[in-house]
Amino acid sequence: MARSLLILNGPNLNLLGTREPETYGSQTLSDIEAICQAAAKSAGFACDFRQSNHEGELVTWIQQARGTADGIVINPAAYSHTSVAIHDALRAVALPTIEVHLSNIHTREPFRHHSFVSPVAIGVICGLGATGYRLAIEALAEKL
Ligand code: DQA
Repeated sequence: MARSLLILNGPNLNLLGTREPETYGSQTLSDIEAICQAAAKSAGFACDFRQSNHEGELVTWIQQARGTADGIVINPAAYSHTSVAIHDALRAVALPTIEVHLSNIHTREPFRHHSFVSPVAIGVICGLGATGYRLAIEALAEKL
């Protein structure tokens, strides 16, 4: 069976392209999905790319990843800064996970400087736009 990566995107990332392009760039979430599919394919992985505006749905998808995915790339968006539930789900499934942010959260408002996800990620990439997703997939593929 092909090895598989789960790529998760949190709230408001469905608005990419029109949402604060000076911060998040002009690429849409579909553009980013195409980059991820290509990167996963060339690394020999299948790629399940999803977005939700609902914390519980993201938690359910993380739980379901146990047994179906080999690794997770997640941009938890605003839930990075608030969600103990996503932290706990990632800790529970114990799959290698890389956290990605399009923007550099450390140069932004102080409330974005802390992430509940970072302590349960093997790595964190921020500030590189969509390239961060590609690098996360390459790093996970190497690790796996
Ligand atoms: C984000 C950064 C978060 O602080 C913000 O809430 C987002 C997007 C990023 O990709 O830069 O929605 O995760």
